[in-house]
Amino acid sequence: MDTDRLLRELTEFLRIPSVSTLPAHNSDCRRAAEWVAVELRRLGCRDIQFLGSDSHPVVWGVGPEVPGAPTLLLYGHYDVQPPDPLDEWTAPPFEPTVRDGQLFARGAADDKGQVFCLLKAVEACGRPPVNFRFLIEGEEEYGSKVLFEVLRREPGRTKADAVLVADMAYVAPGWPAVYTTLRGIAYAEITVRTARSDLHSGEYGGAAPNAHEELCRLLVRLKRPDGTINVPGLYRAVRPPGKAERALWRKLPFKEQAFLTKRVQAKALVGMKQYSVLERLWALPTFEIHGITGGFTGDGAKTVIPAAATAKVSLRLVPNQTLRTVERQVTAAVRKLAPRYVAATVHFLHGSDPAVIEVNHPSFALLDRAFKEVVGRGTVAARAGGSIPVIPALRKAGGGAPIILTGIGLPDDRLHAPDEKLDLQQLWDGIAVFKRFYELLATNGVEEKRRGEPSRRIVKENRH
Ligand code: BES
Ligand code: MN
Ligand code: MN
Repeated sequence: MDTDRLLRELTEFLRIPSVSTLPAHNSDCRRAAEWVAVELRRLGCRDIQFLGSDSHPVVWGVGPEVPGAPTLLLYGHYDVQPPDPLDEWTAPPFEPTVRDGQLFARGAADDKGQVFCLLKAVEACGRPPVNFRFLIEGEEEYGSKVLFEVLRREPGRTKADAVLVADMAYVAPGWPAVYTTLRGIAYAEITVRTARSDLHSGEYGGAAPNAHEELCRLLVRLKRPDGTINVPGLYRAVRPPGKAERALWRKLPFKEQAFLTKRVQAKALVGMKQYSVLERLWALPTFEIHGITGGFTGDGAKTVIPAAATAKVSLRLVPNQTLRTVERQVTAAVRKLAPRYVAATVHFLHGSDPAVIEVNHPSFALLDRAFKEVVGRGTVAARAGGSIPVIPALRKAGGGAPIILTGIGLPDDRLHAPDEKLDLQQLWDGIAVFKRFYELLATNGVEEKRRGEPSRRIVKENRH
């Protein structure tokens, strides 16, 4: 493997600040899409299209036809989260830097490095062994509106025998994983208005309502100190994980104490203490405040009573909850909890349902084998706390094709945070793993094993 060349190419991709949520980066998102398109052309794609948007297009590609071989859809995203706070990065986020075998940059692990891994594994095969379809979107970090629309218009486009999504991590170093659930998300702005305009805090202080104070009180009421979210009905649909699944979790290399000291690096963990940390991360809804704006936050001092304040918040949803219901419940809760003299509104920016993925399709066994051969351990089944909004829709559009959620990241990659990184050995291993997976798929096919019948192969074993 020419790792120098690969590193150069990935660096070029990571240099593009394709932050999807910031309109100032629209042309960068477009450039990142074009970077992907050039790669797809190099892989021999006949049909490459930009779908749904000029600034954040879904990059679609159809690989060379391989008659009789299965069709594999590769999904990933070329957009990234905003890089701030900039001064907490050791090196600038869009100037990729290698230190100690780690590549530091925004998007290194989430998800440009992993998209790169999927593509370079195709390249490493020489002639593509299966029928590849590429679906690389540019708005995953902002709710995937463009791709949702593409799937709604053309659900048939993404038909495949299997879908491979590399946008996740190992559960621990040396422990590759496939994921059985993703949490959904409901992202909202809660705005509180208390007066027509800002007021002098000396003239009016003591008698006029303060929007920030009212917003804070409202937010504090939405989650109790014990971690319970105070949204009526929110937990109604939540199901505890079953005995068998809990038993699997106990076998994972996860220690609550190490999670606190090595990963969270805080003084204590919070949340619903009656549940294990994994249950809190994977099987329970959350409510988080991302930022609060309004009033005066510039340099210096200004004495003002703000008339409006906004909090950006999100809830994570777990299997059996639905976005529609949660949005309704949150709106009702905010209405109920705000005092009558306060105008409180909820505006939802984006969201998605949670996803549940069965992992018993034969293609999972092939990925397990590829990991075993390359890194010495097969995949464990775990759940994920994060969200990939389009997965439920992709699953519906795919008509039963398995969606393999996996990845080559590590749990300490600091996604969305300063000094995001990708371990380069993970990348080189990943390229070898996916290459092997593609080859196994070609030789074994994806036919479900029927009870009592020997497994049927779609194509005959072709020895290299
Ligand atoms: N790759 C992540 C999702 C992820 C992270 C899955 C960690 C499993 C473990 C993805 O890019 C992501 O961050 N999604 C957003 C979606 C949201 C902005 C709609 C998320 O989860 O916050
Ligand atoms: Mn991602
Ligand atoms: Mn992300």
